[in-house]
Amino acid sequence: MRGFRKIFLVLALLLAVPVTAVADDGYDLWLRYKPVEARWLGPYRAANTVLVTGVASPTLDAARDELARGLAGLLGRPQKTGAVADGAVLIGTPQSSPAIAALKLDLKAAGDEGYVIRSMVVEGHKATVIAGNSDAGVLHGAFAYLRLLQTRQPLTGLAVVEAPKTKLRLLDHWDNLDRTSERGYAGLSLWNWSQLPALDKRYTDYARANASIGINGTVLNNVNADLRIYRPDYLAKVAALAGVFRPYGIKVYLAMLSSAPIQIGGLKTADPLDPGVIAWWKQEADTIYKAIPDFGGFLVKANSEGMPGPQDYGRTQAQGANVMARALSPHHGVVIWRAFVYSPDNREDRAKQAYKEFVPIDGKFDANVLVQIKNGPLDFQPREPFSPLFGALPHTDAMMEFQITKEYLGFATHLAYLGPLYEETLKSDTYAKGPGSTVAKVIDGELFGNALTGMAGVANTGTDPNWSGSIFNQANWYVFGRMAWNPEASARTIAEEWTKQTFGNDPKVVRTTVAMMMASRQAVVDYMTPLGLNMIMGHGTHYGPAPWDNIGNRPDWKAPYYHHADAAGLGFDRTASGSDALAQYFPPAAAKFADKSNLDYLLWFHHVGWGEKLVTGRSLWDELVVRYTGGVDAVKKMRRQWNGLKDKVDPERFALTARYLAIQQAEAQWWRDACLAYFQSFSKMPYPKGYKAPAHPLAYYESLNAGKNLDAALASGLSN
Ligand code: GCU
Repeated sequence: MRGFRKIFLVLALLLAVPVTAVADDGYDLWLRYKPVEARWLGPYRAANTVLVTGVASPTLDAARDELARGLAGLLGRPQKTGAVADGAVLIGTPQSSPAIAALKLDLKAAGDEGYVIRSMVVEGHKATVIAGNSDAGVLHGAFAYLRLLQTRQPLTGLAVVEAPKTKLRLLDHWDNLDRTSERGYAGLSLWNWSQLPALDKRYTDYARANASIGINGTVLNNVNADLRIYRPDYLAKVAALAGVFRPYGIKVYLAMLSSAPIQIGGLKTADPLDPGVIAWWKQEADTIYKAIPDFGGFLVKANSEGMPGPQDYGRTQAQGANVMARALSPHHGVVIWRAFVYSPDNREDRAKQAYKEFVPIDGKFDANVLVQIKNGPLDFQPREPFSPLFGALPHTDAMMEFQITKEYLGFATHLAYLGPLYEETLKSDTYAKGPGSTVAKVIDGELFGNALTGMAGVANTGTDPNWSGSIFNQANWYVFGRMAWNPEASARTIAEEWTKQTFGNDPKVVRTTVAMMMASRQAVVDYMTPLGLNMIMGHGTHYGPAPWDNIGNRPDWKAPYYHHADAAGLGFDRTASGSDALAQYFPPAAAKFADKSNLDYLLWFHHVGWGEKLVTGRSLWDELVVRYTGGVDAVKKMRRQWNGLKDKVDPERFALTARYLAIQQAEAQWWRDACLAYFQSFSKMPYPKGYKAPAHPLAYYESLNAGKNLDAALASGLSN
């Protein structure tokens, strides 16, 4: 009895605590389904009296379960299922639901994976219909419907029609079989290989999160692939994961190596034109499809950073891709062939190499091959111009590769919302077919009429309680999915949508959080690599300032190779007087990059004199100082903004974010002080008024090492 009373007391106490005071580790991501405010409760309950389903399937069950779970949470009561009545929500396809078939909806615009959500009269009752041509479409519709409630949209007069604009919307996990991740900052890999095929609840929640934003494929392993994953015991584990993801409309893909015929096939060669090799690939594909009948296909990194590839045999990248593609094609699989190729032995400007290699083989790839191109010509820098390959391969299915993980943008702790980065690239005009030939239109197939299209995001999804290393990093997973679905979507709209689902609909929370997010990426650019600087991060780790350091894997590809600082000035001359990488762009795009008033890319394309006056009226040196200090100020501002939300966000997520912002401020200052001190040793120009150079730019880290806590280190070790 006493035990019971104690439990009762604890329960009563728990229930009495306001929502914001309950600890929350962020596990639920944006699928939180917290109770709506009183004023929404009436209309929302009235519009969701009963769920009406048709013939069941694993995917339709997932849609029903998600709606039941979401509506129960949002509306504070168990969700009923049953027959059509006023306020019914009908879900299904015309095949699975006779009631929906009877409505004779025009579902053409919903395509294979999209949906319609419509307010309609059904059998004489006011109802809402969530329908698609496929079960996966219905599932996507169910999530979209819940998003309407989570963002407090009215549920009357609904006439939503949505279909994804790209076909393959993939997460690329750079995960190793020992559960480390090549560039992951969110704990260990989610895939517990030693326990699989035993399943974990997290796999289902991972699939739910992905389906909610339309992601329909996942590459489980690192592009620097460990081929043990193709052993029968591993394939059984992969098949178990595929079984969890299948109801959510998500296919499994694996990274593969060109050298597999030798490494796992025991052949003497991996030459793609060798008959034995051709036969081996067919047999290997058959084995994989026996284990996983709807296997998506291979992702391949070849002849890049020392990886094997067809060029080892004097063959082209296309020949290397096609031998795999022909083996997968009878099973409807695809090959995703990466264009991230550069060779340490090549004397050419690294930014030019991929274009030079791939443009001559445009049109040589089989129909089930996509060429996956990183957003910029180098490597996921805080800001890069778009890769000149976009628009330059009219006869190839080109796919986008973004990073969700922040390899060069401060790992887990720095707040950098990547929506603006994605949007900037996607909206860039390639001018391939005149004005309006945006990168978005290249990758969604509109420009060249491609059959296969896609977008991949290098994931940062791991075993951390919050999945993403930080709460705000969840937004990068979210915005990636939403933009893969619609490459023309707005980063700001998506930030708002994410914030409302993640932190609630309080206008102050939404306003403040969105403002922080929208300014955050530019802040990172400014305190790390302003004005088009790049590749000046620490060697190997890609963390922290190291403009003096060796970041590349060619001896002369140290950071100075990328910034070319000397007594005269700073920046890489990629105009006609330099490497002429500019010439790889269509002339109007090249002209924009060549324009020195385009400060975002100034030092990417030009070597600029330290004293040269910029469009701002300041010298390059002064502008550099203004940018670095502005970046730090922007982080200070984010900290102030976040602190203003202390009573509006649950303590756990608030404190984690506050702590990370403090780290970010300290490290922004570290970047500013280290880079300015280094560049000043070349410019020899005085610091402009307002910037006090620290006597010792690395003092912050030394004071941390001396045992000071973060705040003390911040206060003592840094300049202004
Ligand atoms: C970057 C990254 C590597 C990765 C490579 C790739 O260079 O640092 O870890 O393997 O990109 O995309 O293949």
